[in-house]
Parts: sequence; structure tokens; C-alpha cells
Amino acid sequence: MVESVKIGVAGLGTVGVGVLKILEAHGGLLESRSGVKLEVTAVSSRDRTKDRGVSLDGMTWYENASDMATDNNVDIILELIGGSDGIAKDLCEKALEAGKSVVTANKALLAVHGTALAEQAEAHNVTIAYEAAVAGGIPIVKALREGLSGNAISRVYGILNGTCNYILTEMEETGGEFESILKEAQDLGYAEADPSFDIDGVDAAHKLAILTSLAYATPVDFDKVYIEGITSVTADDISYATELGYRIKLLGVARRTDKGIEQRVHPCMVRKDTSIANVSGVFNAVVAEGDSVDSTVYVGRGAGEGPTASAVIADVIDIAAGRLTPTFGVPVVKMKPIPSVSIEDHVGCYYVCLTVYDKPGVIADVSAVFRDEDISIESLLQRGRSEQEAVPVILVTHEVKEASLVRALAKIEKFDHSVARPRMIRIVSL
Ligand SMILES: NC(=O)c1ccc[n+]([C@@H]2O[C@H](COP(=O)([O-])OP(=O)(O)OC[C@H]3O[C@@H](n4cnc5c(N)ncnc54)[C@H](OP(=O)(O)O)[C@@H]3O)[C@@H](O)[C@H]2O)c1
Repeated sequence: MVESVKIGVAGLGTVGVGVLKILEAHGGLLESRSGVKLEVTAVSSRDRTKDRGVSLDGMTWYENASDMATDNNVDIILELIGGSDGIAKDLCEKALEAGKSVVTANKALLAVHGTALAEQAEAHNVTIAYEAAVAGGIPIVKALREGLSGNAISRVYGILNGTCNYILTEMEETGGEFESILKEAQDLGYAEADPSFDIDGVDAAHKLAILTSLAYATPVDFDKVYIEGITSVTADDISYATELGYRIKLLGVARRTDKGIEQRVHPCMVRKDTSIANVSGVFNAVVAEGDSVDSTVYVGRGAGEGPTASAVIADVIDIAAGRLTPTFGVPVVKMKPIPSVSIEDHVGCYYVCLTVYDKPGVIADVSAVFRDEDISIESLLQRGRSEQEAVPVILVTHEVKEASLVRALAKIEKFDHSVARPRMIRIVSL
């Protein structure tokens, strides 16, 4: 008789139901791949009366998900509830304490408590697996942890939030402003009613913190991620980017420099001919650069029932088959803190948009400020001519330290002929 591995599923929403559907549809295939029968014996959710469209027959229902952790008829816990604290954290801790491996799709939890949970898992010879937490259906966790383990990773970056990528793609294709495209995205179900975690860059930052830990064998340090969302990107920025040969993407970038690690999430201008620039709509993409392998690119669906459940099931199969790997690729005792490089020390090229009255001497004044801060200008575009109306002046800088540019823009903002706060977008060379 084939041995069975018993699964407890906490959270029967988009992902939880997706997991139950795959287990039901592909039972035989999954059994051949894991070598054991995968059987759901327990479930938990808030509302017992809700029709989930899947059969829950024969499964024990838990009012309190955490109680599932000590059920002797459950071997693996799937935490598919969400949130960095509360019930999700409590369930994971109790399950690990009880010697059960955990699979979660919860990036918020991992970004904040990942190292502590990994330590707890190791202490009990189990694991906490989270392929679904970063870029949904793209197997980037396994790729970084195992496939690229022979490399020193110099940089890992990507489009880690499908909602933002959808909005930026639509802004480019329709010429619309952020607010109206966001509203459309909400109507179509591509953005949450409260979209702040997505559009403010927090969701991408959670994922980036996890990728950084995997890539550099360092404790997860979400607080060190610089975060800027897409709410201030304008239709004009998108149109100037197009004119300059760029596309605007919200990227998460983790980069090793000789001073430490940069971790940043912000809108970026990327050249249109790069692979990442051509990932549009709700799709995600991650690029990992290793010293031996060079650049590797992973593209796919970063969210949704099927893609996310696909990643959860892959973790379940690994655990059921006995393939337990350290949570972040190395045991926690081998993880080393690495200094964090602040955004002020970032060196790169910048797109700058000034809004000024076109009076004689304005460009000379701007040039003087840039000269004083040792910033050299690669190109300058000036639109329209009017001493009565403000006109945009678009500049692209050569490489400069961010702190110098920020000082320069603060000085320019104080000019009499400056009518709006100067805007800047970092240009990322890929
Ligand atoms: N959706 C995606 O595309 C996606 C992609 C990647 C990662 N994730 C992550 O996957 C996790 C689940 O996301 P989701 O989209 O499936 O969320 P969801 O559709 O909102 O489902 C959450 C589920 O958790 C249940 N729940 C809430 N509080 C609970 C509690 N105290 N005890 C037991 N169950 C509780 C809810 O119960 P009721 O149904 O009874 O209300 C619901 O079934 C999150 O960590 C999310 O970040 C989601």
C-alpha cells in the first residue's frame, strides 16, 4: 500500500481553493512525482457556510486554524491565510514547533519573520517552504536556492507586482493618467479595493527582501528595503520615457556593491530593448545575474489561483518526497548580515522633469546648480516656449550619486521660475 502524506489547508480563498483543485485533478500524477499519496485531512477558514466550489467531504473543519498544528492526522500545514502576524504567524510557529513542515504563499510573513521561522524549522528538522510567495507561478525561489547555487549573484531584479505592471502598461498604451487606470484595474479585478500594498511598492518590497536573503545568504531585512511606489508616475513621464527610448517599470532590485547590498523598489526607466521592458500586463519577471551563468530570465504569471497553487503544490511534493532544503538556501547559523547601502549612496543615471517658466537664464541657472553638485547632463529636452505658462524641461543625467541630485533638485525647486516640484525617475542599466 502506498504511504500517504496528510495535509492541513488553512485558508480556503483564491490560493487554498486552487490547491484543493490541483490535488483533486492531478492526484495520480502528484503521487508518482512525490512517491506518496497526498491527502487533505483538515481545513480551516473563517466562514464554514461558504460554498467554495470544491468538496470538503471527510476533512476535519477547524474553527481555529492554529489547532490544526497539533492534529496527529496532519503531516504538512499549508498556511494560505495571509498577513505578517496574527493567525498566520501563530499557525506557522505552532506547526513548526510540533515538528510539521509548513508551506506558505505569505510574503508579508516571510519578509518580516522569515529568519526566525527558518531557525525554528531547522531546530525541529522540518522546513518552511514558500515558492508561491515570490512571483507566484515562477519557480524563482528554487532557481535561486538550487539551480543557481554554484554562482555568486551580483544582482537580482524584477517586476514583482502584476498590478503595478498592468497599470504602467495601460498608462503607456492608452496615454491615461494613473488614477483613471487604477480605477479601471479595480473594475477588472486586477487591483484590490484597497490597492495600497501594491501601488505603494510594499508587496514588491516583501518579495525583494526574500529574494535578497536567498541570493546573498543573509538574514531577511525588510526594513532595509528602500520603497517608492508608482502613484507619482504621470502620463507625461511615460510619454517622455518613450521618446527617450525607455519604458517605466516598477522594479525590485537587490545588488551587491563593494559597500554592501542595495535593496530598492521604485519606478525605473529601462531601455525598451531589454527583456524586462517587454514584460507587460499582469506578468512578472525576475532576472538573476550570476558570475558563472551570466544573466538568467524568468517570466510568468505572478498571481492568480492556478499559478500560485502550482507553486504551493511544488513545495508540497518536495516535502512529501523528503527533499527538505534550508529555507533560504543555507542554515540560519551560516547566514551573514551584510551592510546595507542607503538610497542616498546609490549611483546611477536619472531622468529629471522640471516645470519652469521659460524666462531667459532659466537653463543657465539649472546648469549652474548641476555644475555645483558635479552632475553632468547627457541630454536636455525643452517643450514649448512661453513666459506666461510653465513648460517642462526634461533632463537625463550621467551617473551621479543620488544625494547630489536630491540636493540639486531641492535648490531648483526654490527658483522663482520653478512652478512644480521637480520629479526624477532612476534609470537602470540592464
Ligand atoms: N491570490 C494570489 O494571487 C496570491 C499570489 C501570491 C501569494 N498569495 C498569498 O497567498 C495567501 C492567501 O491569499 P488569497 O489570495 O488566497 O487570499 P483570500 O482569497 O483572501 O483567502 C484568504 C483565506 O483565508 C481565510 N481566513 C481569513 N482569516 C482566517 C482565520 N482567522 N482563520 C482561518 N482562515 C482565515 C479566509 O476565509 P473565508 O474565505 O472564510 O473568509 C479565506 O479563505 C496570502 O498570503 C497572499 O499574499 C496570493
